[in-house]
Amino acid sequence: MVDKYLVTAALPYASGPRHIGHAAGVYIPADIYARYHRMKGHDVVFICGTDEHGTPITVQAVQEGVRPIEIADRYHKVIKDSFDKLGFSFDNFSRTTREIHYRLAQDFFMTLYKKGYIYKKEVELLYCSNCKRFLPDRYVEGVCPHCGAEGARGDQCDACGRILNPTDLVDPHCVICNTTPTTRKSLQWFFKLSAFEDAIKKMLEENRHWPDNVRNFCLQLIEKEGLKDRDITRDLEWGIPVPLSEAKGKVLYVWFDAPIGYISATMEWAQKIGDPEKWREYWQGNAKIVHFLAKDNIPFHAIIWPAMLMAYGGFSLPWMIPAYEHLNLEGRKMSTSRGWVVELNDFLDEFDPDMLRYYLTINAPQKRDVDFYWREFQRRVNDELADIIGNFIHRTLSFIYNNFDGKVPAPGEFDERDKEMLRLIENAQLTVGKHIEEFNSSLGLKEIVRLAGAANKYFNDKQPWRTLKEDPQKCATTLYICAQLTRSLAIMLAPYLPFASQRLWRMLNLPADVHKQNWDSASELGIRPGHEIRKPEPLFVKLQDEVIRRREEKLQAILRAQSQTVVTAEEFARLDIRIGKVVSVEPIPRSKKLLKLSVDVGDKRRTIVAGLAQHYSPEQLVGKNVVVLLNLKPIQLMGVTSEGMLLAAEDEKGPSILTPDRTVKPGSRVK
Ligand code: MF3
Ligand code: ZN
Repeated sequence: MVDKYLVTAALPYASGPRHIGHAAGVYIPADIYARYHRMKGHDVVFICGTDEHGTPITVQAVQEGVRPIEIADRYHKVIKDSFDKLGFSFDNFSRTTREIHYRLAQDFFMTLYKKGYIYKKEVELLYCSNCKRFLPDRYVEGVCPHCGAEGARGDQCDACGRILNPTDLVDPHCVICNTTPTTRKSLQWFFKLSAFEDAIKKMLEENRHWPDNVRNFCLQLIEKEGLKDRDITRDLEWGIPVPLSEAKGKVLYVWFDAPIGYISATMEWAQKIGDPEKWREYWQGNAKIVHFLAKDNIPFHAIIWPAMLMAYGGFSLPWMIPAYEHLNLEGRKMSTSRGWVVELNDFLDEFDPDMLRYYLTINAPQKRDVDFYWREFQRRVNDELADIIGNFIHRTLSFIYNNFDGKVPAPGEFDERDKEMLRLIENAQLTVGKHIEEFNSSLGLKEIVRLAGAANKYFNDKQPWRTLKEDPQKCATTLYICAQLTRSLAIMLAPYLPFASQRLWRMLNLPADVHKQNWDSASELGIRPGHEIRKPEPLFVKLQDEVIRRREEKLQAILRAQSQTVVTAEEFARLDIRIGKVVSVEPIPRSKKLLKLSVDVGDKRRTIVAGLAQHYSPEQLVGKNVVVLLNLKPIQLMGVTSEGMLLAAEDEKGPSILTPDRTVKPGSRVK
């Protein structure tokens, strides 16, 4: 019996391009996992697609003045394109706007309804009288009632991860027009989540293998608040219609329909491969269902979704829910609206996708938030990927190509050092595999880097460039082992770096595709003596400073633009700007530019040094009403302490000092 895996990666909202944080926390780890299990010979179906309903899409559509489907069409393409370029090996990348999905989502609703798990209730909802619409989910923002964070959305607070109702928000406002909403009555349908509290608790308690950020987080949530029934319908035009005649104009809540997309996309896959019932083997058989997702998706996948599956009956529950933390960018939270992001398409236009996969795996946001730093990206790519892994492969293949006519030499007897190296390969194959199976792909990759490091050391210690003449048999043995190592590395790197590993496989001139190899064969001596390799080329091109600097400058520019636009009135009020009267002016010895001014600022005089000597004579300045910043930190200029700054405008003719448009008493505040 072959192990079956149904692997999913959270369906991305088709509301914008995805950024490197999404790749780091969901899609790359999921792809490594799926690829690895295929190489283990397991039966894997890897499912994803775009999540195309809900307010992330409709808010975007309102803001752009287009129909929601246009937004969904556009970003389905953009996202799919970036995912293809990153080599994600989905068996099906679907959309929640497909008919098969509408049918299944409505069937889910009706089944739960008939079983008595869905009921209707009149509720008070937020309504924007200006936009003339209800404000569900992301149409409204305010302060989180649990943690006090600002910018909490009507569906969830990003700061504390709690799921919210719009009416929970403190100080709510409409995201489209900023109006404070009123409330209005509306009929909605509710899912009886409360009926599953015990069952969900039991499931969480039994699933001891789930990570803490999922299991403990959800158990605590239930401990604190219990499970309340959830409204699963919305007053929106965009979405899957509620299949009841009395529910005209209502659609299913996006978080009700989206996870059903995992099943409908599997059904679609089964149809595509011409075996329409095959999806049942994964959802109603004994497959292990693994949902990869980011931390903000946890309660939906670990509480509500399993409850929906239990309510429907006959489906398997999730076996594992690996949930990742967040990736920050250069020390700050990523924000698409502020431009503080690296979008995948933008990244992939310039860089090798495997470099991103490498960096975001070795520096994965697994147990805690981590940062993407351009410098660090460059360092790891150059010092590890190129200088450790790439270098070992290149020196081995070049040596064989140049000294053995491109043919892998036949080994002599293995000495202790040779045997030790072979043991390291075997160990790595087991350890790396174990790490991936245990959802620690990051540790697995570190293990591979360590193996390549040991391989470099082996190469150095064996000094094949010397033994080539002095002891040719020994040299042949060394290169034979190094050749085996390159093949093993290709296989072990295949789930991580699907493109580079295949390039290496081709250089090795091995048959078929590295991705079709069996994982366990990584520890075999799989290259026969006499096997001819192709002309080697470097696997990775190092990243130049220039390229990285340009990226950093782009971010710097965003920070500058931000600091120009986001000064608050309070911040401005911290500047003590006053009117002064120039009492006396002296030149400063040995300075062509500076003048020393004594300025009456009301209660006392201040010494201010200003760079005006080339544009104003002392006589022009004395007696003038000027504008000065008083609480500037004092600075020394040519031995004189300046206790403030004289404000001036500047254009191509030089500086022009500011004066009020009538004479104003010295010491008056400028605000
Ligand atoms: N679209 C959601 C997000 O990007 C994830 C949905 S996962 C699914 O946060 F299971 F509901 F599809
Ligand atoms: Zn509004």
